[in-house]
Amino acid sequence: MSRPLAVICLAAGLGKRTKVSVPKVLLPLCGRGLAAWALAAAAPLKPVRTVVVLHHQKDQVQRELQAAMAAEFTHLQFVDQGAPKGTGHAVQVAMQELSDFVGDVLVIYGDCPLVTTGTLRDLRELRSGTAANPPCSLLTAYPEETKGLGRILRNDDGRFVGIREERDCSAEERAIDEINAGFYCFDSQALRPALAGLRADNAQGEYYLTDAVASFAQRGLEVPTLEVEDAAEILGVNSLADLALARMVMQERILIEHLANGVMVVDPGTTWIDHGVRIGADTKVLPCTVIGTGCVIGSRCEVGPFAHLRAGTVLEDGAEIGNFVEAKKTRMGAGAKAKHLTYLGDATIGAKTNIGAGTITANYDGVHKHETKIGAGAFVGSGSVIVAPSEIGDHAMTGAGAIVKRGSVVGANEVWVGVPAKKLKMRETPAHRTDKGGGKA
Ligand code: UD1
Ligand code: MG
Repeated sequence: MSRPLAVICLAAGLGKRTKVSVPKVLLPLCGRGLAAWALAAAAPLKPVRTVVVLHHQKDQVQRELQAAMAAEFTHLQFVDQGAPKGTGHAVQVAMQELSDFVGDVLVIYGDCPLVTTGTLRDLRELRSGTAANPPCSLLTAYPEETKGLGRILRNDDGRFVGIREERDCSAEERAIDEINAGFYCFDSQALRPALAGLRADNAQGEYYLTDAVASFAQRGLEVPTLEVEDAAEILGVNSLADLALARMVMQERILIEHLANGVMVVDPGTTWIDHGVRIGADTKVLPCTVIGTGCVIGSRCEVGPFAHLRAGTVLEDGAEIGNFVEAKKTRMGAGAKAKHLTYLGDATIGAKTNIGAGTITANYDGVHKHETKIGAGAFVGSGSVIVAPSEIGDHAMTGAGAIVKRGSVVGANEVWVGVPAKKLKMRETPAHRTDKGGGKA
C-alpha cells in the first residue's frame, strides 16, 4: 500500500464509570494498559505518524504510554484536547498536529483494546485499496448488547446513510442491531473539511465524529462498511466488569498462541500468562500459575502448579519451578529446580542446582534490593535463608535451616550450616556431592 498512514488514538475521556483512580486508558490488561493494546494493534500497519489525544491525567497517561510503546513506536505524539467536547472535537485537535499530512487517517479508541491488526488492515484496505477512493470506511458490528452505542442507518437499498447516537435515536432506530464500532479510516483530504462542518446540535452538546462520516453519505458519496467478524474485538471498556471480560478474551488469545507453539498449558482456565512471555516447546505449565510480562522460559521446563513468575525471570531449558514458588528477576540455569514453597528474588542460579523447600533469598533490606548468586550443581538445604548480597559457589551446600548472613561468600564445594551459617570444617568435598548431579528433591 503506497499511501502513508497516520493513526489517531482517542484517549481523552474521563472514564468515571470505572470508579478507580487509574486513568481508564491505563487500566491493566494481561501486562499492559488498554491504550497500549490499541496502539499495538495498529503498529504493524507501520504508521508514519501517531497522535494520541489526551486530557484527563494527561501527564501520567503520556509517561506510561511512552514507556509501554517504546519498542513499537519511535514517533508517538501527544496532544491535549483541553476540555473534551466529543469525538469529533478530539479528531479536530489531532488533525491540527497533522496539518501537513496527506494519506490515510486511521482512528482508534484508547479504551478498545481487543481490536486486531487484521481488522484494522482490512478497514484501511476497504478505503484506500480500491480505485473508488471513498472518503472514509467504517467498522460495524452486531453485538449482543447494543446499549449506549451508535446505530448504523441505511436506506432501502442497504446503503450507509448515517450513524445515530443512542440518545438521539427514535424508538425504531434504537431497535437497529447494527452498531458503529468507532473505528474509521479516512482520506485526510476529505476528513479536514468534514471536521470543519461539525455542529454540536445533539443530545450531548458534543461534536460527533460520526456526523463527519454521515456528511459524506449526505453528499452522495459511498461510505463502505466492514462488519467485524468477532464482535468481541470492538468491546469498549467503561467499567471494571468490562475490563474483566476483556481480560478473559485477551487471556484466551495469549494461551491459544502458546498452545499452538507446543507449550503444554494443562488448564487454560486457571493459567494467567501476560503478553510478551516467551515459552519453549515441551514446557509444561501446571494449573493456577501466573506468569508476568517479560518472562522467558525455555524448553522442557515445568512451572507450577501455583507458581508465580514475575518480570525479568528466565528459566533455561529443563528448569523446574514447583508449587508455591515465586520468582522475580531470577535466572534459573538449565535443569535447576526449586520445587516447593520458595521465594527467589534478584537471584542467579546455576545449572542443575537444587533449591530446597522453603528457601528464601532475602533480597530487600528495607531500602535497597540486593542480588544472590548461586553456582551450578549446588544444593541449598530446606528452609535456608540467604541474605543478599551473598554468593554460594558451584557444588556448595547449605544445611537445612541455614541462615546465610548478608555478604557471605560460600566457596565452591563448601558446606555451610547453622544460624548464622558457618563453614563446616570436617570434610572438604562431601562424598555425596561427587556425582555433581541435581538429584531429585
Ligand atoms: C462512540 C461513537 C458511537 C460508537 C461508540 C463505540 C461518537 C459520537 N459516537 O460513542 O457511535 O458506537 O463510540 O464505542 O463518536 N474521547 C476523547 N475526547 C472526547 C470524547 C471521547 O478523546 O471529547 C475518546 C474517549 O476517551 C474514548 C473514545 O473517544 O476512548 C470514545 O468516546 P466515548 O465517549 O466512549 O464515545 P461513545 O459515546 O461511546
Ligand atoms: Mg464509549
